Amino acid sequence: MIIFKDVSVSFSGQRVLRGVSLHVKSGSITTIVGPSGSGKSTILRVAMGFRTVDSGSVAIDGEDVTSISEKRWTRVRRKMGMVFQHSALFDSLSVVENVGFYPYYVDRLPWRKVREQAMELLSELGLAESANKMPEELSGGMQRRVALARALVYHPKILLYDEPTTGLDPQNSDLVSNMIREANEKFGVTSVVVTHDLQCIHALSDEVVLITGGEGFSIGKPHQLFVATDPRVVDFTQVWRKQMLDYASEMRGETGGAVLPS
Ligand SMILES: Nc1ncnc2c1ncn2[C@@H]1O[C@H](COP(=O)(O)OP(=O)(O)OP(=O)(O)O)[C@@H](O)[C@H]1O
Ligand SMILES: [Mg+2]
Repeated sequence: MIIFKDVSVSFSGQRVLRGVSLHVKSGSITTIVGPSGSGKSTILRVAMGFRTVDSGSVAIDGEDVTSISEKRWTRVRRKMGMVFQHSALFDSLSVVENVGFYPYYVDRLPWRKVREQAMELLSELGLAESANKMPEELSGGMQRRVALARALVYHPKILLYDEPTTGLDPQNSDLVSNMIREANEKFGVTSVVVTHDLQCIHALSDEVVLITGGEGFSIGKPHQLFVATDPRVVDFTQVWRKQMLDYASEMRGETGGAVLPS
């Protein structure tokens, strides 16, 4: 569904991605983790066609898009949606107007029809009661969910998320993760999620990919983050690993041996 083969990208002569290969299977959720500045958002930009590659190839939904025209990209992007860290809702538009924004303002479809479609989607996502609220009236978690509804309005085959739960409390982070999973299952969307949030990684990943030092490698299931012996994985996860061991040891101290109280 999304295939990167040996993709390299540079900014001002500085190589950011060096031969990254990715294979995101149709209908799956891949999470991308890695240190700040390692090129995670760059991968999403390449996948959306906002950034061309120096070398390597990119295929989206079976089509080689490595050097297609901007006009062709407009068609390919129709299959895709993107959700950003700060939900980037339009402050002066209500929830339903935000969700219908692109079909109405960009595609010039009649509002009555767009509204109907947007309301249907909001109902499916359990957001119908908020349809006429303004973004500022919603919690951060709700705003992210509305942003997801806005991305779903075109029924994309592929959704790319850049840090969708960053800054949210655990409950809201869980709600947003559930919605990403739901979009994946209910609408058959293939998803790529860039995240630093362990809870999100755990709840979502069919496959985890680590980007570090400009290189990417597939780690597999989330628990591999903590058992893999590859020095690059160990290096990236050592703070998490230490934290887990510290908690486990403190808990054992309190419970007299068990990791968790029975
Ligand atoms: N348009 C640009 N012009 C110049 N340099 C850029 C540009 N976009 C990204 N970079 C550089 O490329 C590198 C990777 O950036 P990118 O945004 O992909 O990292 P990231 O992994 O998403 O980081 P973070 O976790 O902080 O969001 C960084 O060093 C960044 O400064
Ligand atoms: Mg980023």
